[in-house]
This record gives sequence, structure tokens and C-alpha cells, in this order.
Amino acid sequence: MDLSDRPRAHLGVWPTPLHDVDGLWMKREDLSGFGFGGNKVRKLEFLLGAAIARGQSRVVTFGALQSNHVRATAAACARLGLRLEAVAVQAVPRTDADYTTSGNAFLTELYGATRHVVPDDDAASALALELMAEHGDDLAVVMPGGSDRIGTLGHVDSALELYGQLEFDPHEVVVAASTCGTMAGLVIGLAAADVDTVVRGVCVYHSREQTEAALRDLLTQTCDELGVAVPDDDRWVLDDSQFGDGYGIPSEAGLREIRRLATTTGIVLDPVYTAKAYAALPSDPELRRRTVFMHTGGGPSLFAYRTALV
Ligand SMILES: Cc1ncc(COP(=O)(O)O)c(C=O)c1O
Repeated sequence: MDLSDRPRAHLGVWPTPLHDVDGLWMKREDLSGFGFGGNKVRKLEFLLGAAIARGQSRVVTFGALQSNHVRATAAACARLGLRLEAVAVQAVPRTDADYTTSGNAFLTELYGATRHVVPDDDAASALALELMAEHGDDLAVVMPGGSDRIGTLGHVDSALELYGQLEFDPHEVVVAASTCGTMAGLVIGLAAADVDTVVRGVCVYHSREQTEAALRDLLTQTCDELGVAVPDDDRWVLDDSQFGDGYGIPSEAGLREIRRLATTTGIVLDPVYTAKAYAALPSDPELRRRTVFMHTGGGPSLFAYRTALV
């Protein structure tokens, strides 16, 4: 599968490392080398590459007040000379200063984005329509999480890169599943590489049913974009065992994994995505050795959750 003719803005440092740590293999997308790293950088290379190819100079995107996606988009727009309208939705029931002003909220402003804080998704959609009316064709709309048929190509790319680094066929690749572009890209890329590996998506944003609908839609759209068949359902599973009290609310198991990994390896997970996915990993050592954990980043949001951790 060749992505080399796609418009792509160069932002990250590739390949990201594959580390043997904590009894498993960890693909370090947290070290993607730009804007505090994470899984959004690859998506943004394709999304903003396409926007620049269309001649657009302004971008709107959406996310929670502590969105990693919005922070990475702000950094990318700064690098590429694009103006970002960042729509920050009060999606998590927190009003304290750590949550509303530190971590990703602070970085998004530091990177120079215009930040609009709105109470809910309806207000975000209304604002997006206003911005579209005001800026017309000059405005690129980047979907929440960067998950559409173009952003997902970023993780078709990470799957192909991972395949080139592996010396064995993993039993599972485990990843946090929110807007599902990362998971969908991995499923498509690993199917194209013909690896006998299941992608386990750990639901952190929506229920299993809603996550499945989003995943199926992205698989269909991205395969259509690439002109390939949609991979069989036995190539992926969705796991809602770590959903806990919902999006943005840390779980006890996740917090335990953050502390354990930080104090034994120096690697940090984040409470919203990667810690919940990490808590879903197998404990059996044999199975663990054949598992790849996709470390998708999220470190800056730790500052918004410091009182839950120390
Ligand atoms: C750190 C981190 N991990 C995982 C995800 C999930 O990725 P996706 O939205 O592609 O499912 C996100 C998305 O916001 C994220 O910020």
C-alpha cells in the first residue's frame, strides 16, 4: 500500500521507536517528535498537507478543554503558517483551574491558536457554521480527533511502519479507541501487510456500540479512499472493560498503571487514553511478549490531573 503520492506536511520524526519494555513491545507514538508528540501528528501530516494543497490558510478543529488533538493541531498550524480556530468544548465535568487552564489548554494558547470555549457539541457546531460562513473556502475543517478518511491514513502509515520493525507477528496490537482513526488505520495497515494480528481498541470516549459505529464508518470511508476491501471483522475487537465512569474521568486501574510505569520505567501514560488502554493489557507473560502497546501520547494532560496522582 503506497501513500507516497498523497499530499503530506512534514512534521514528525519517523520511524517512532519500538521498545521492549515492561514485558511487552511498545510503539512510541508518544515520541513522534513534534508538538509534544502523540498519535495526532501523523494524522495532521495528511490532513494539513491536504489543506495546504487546496490552498487553505485557516483551520478549525474541536476537542475537550484538555484535548491532545487540539494542542497538536495548534503546534502544526504554527509550524505551517496556518491560523487555527480551536473550539474547546466543556465535555468533562471539571471547572477547576488545573483542568481549564494548564496542560493542553495552556499549550494551545502558547502555540498561538484562537481558542473559543463553548458549553457543548451543539454550540461547537453552531460556531463552526459561523466560521465557515465567514471564511468560506479558505477554512479547512479538521474533524474531532483528526478522524476522517484522510486523517486515518496517518495510522495506515504507522501500521506499515510497525510491520517493518517487527520480527514476529504479534498476537494483538492494543490501542485506546476514541474517535477511532488510529484504530481504523492500524486495522487497514496490518490487513494490507497480511499480518495475522488482532487490533484491540479500548473504549475511552463512547460506549462500545457508538465506538463500533464510528469505527465501521471510518473503515468503510478510508478503504474507499484507498480503493481496497474493508478488512474482515475478525481483525479487530472492541474492549469496554476500562471505560469506568466515562470520558476524561480517570479509573483506579489506570492511575495505578500510570504510577507503576512512571516509577519503574520513567515512561508516562495519560489518565484519559493510554492508562485505560494499558490497564486492558494481558497479565500472562507469554501473551504479553506477543503484544504491542500503541503508546499514543497524551503526557501534557497529566498536569490537569496531578491531584489525582500525587
Ligand atoms: C493520547 C491519545 N491517545 C489515543 C487517542 C485516541 O485516538 P483516536 O481518536 O484516533 O481513537 C487520542 C485521541 O484523542 C489521544 O489524544
